Amino acid sequence: MKFFIDTANLEQIRQAQEMGILDGVTTNPSLMAKENVKGKEAVMAHYKAICNLVDGPVSAEVFATDFEGMIKEGQELAQIDPKITVKVPCTRDGIRAIKYLSGKGIATNCTLVFSVGQALLAAKAGATFVSPFIGRLDDISEDGISLVEHIVRIYRTYGYKTQVLAASIRHTNHIIRCLDAGADVATCPLKAIEGLLNHPLTDKGLAIFIQDAAKMK
Ligand code: G3P
Repeated sequence: MKFFIDTANLEQIRQAQEMGILDGVTTNPSLMAKENVKGKEAVMAHYKAICNLVDGPVSAEVFATDFEGMIKEGQELAQIDPKITVKVPCTRDGIRAIKYLSGKGIATNCTLVFSVGQALLAAKAGATFVSPFIGRLDDISEDGISLVEHIVRIYRTYGYKTQVLAASIRHTNHIIRCLDAGADVATCPLKAIEGLLNHPLTDKGLAIFIQDAAKMK
């Protein structure tokens, strides 16, 4: 399973990249707004700065909600860097735009997906990635992981090439459950990725090794 970090914060992306396990980045308008990036040029420059930090795909979301606006912005975003994946919300115009952009050879990520039906349309439109939002489903007492499992099963049954990019991940256990569900990618906050590393028995065992190593000096 690939690991993407879900942030537009350059320092967090650097830290994740230095861990040596990062495969890409996802952003969205809310994550970009947190970085106080203002104006089209600054937004484009920020996406380029992210692309310069990583080796894998970088999802940059269109702000437009109409078909014409989405394809205009999507083609502009794709010009920033070959790593750019154009993120498009799963709406009627969004599916049309994904079909159009995919036809131009532009990588796309269908986002704000909350049902198998939406995931099916994203795959039929040729989306590179589909982003089911696990955490937001859990927030309303639904089961986000079961949606991931269902999408994976449907895609495998019908041979869709769209990659399942589990998003809206809240914690480390979501990552583990995404592994079981067969997600192709999990896009995570840095804290959730770091949580994979930490175990008290590792710390305890290392402390004893250090003590015993000191006896041999
Ligand atoms: O990539 C989508 C993700 O950023 C949404 O996460 O926590 O706002 O549901 P969240």
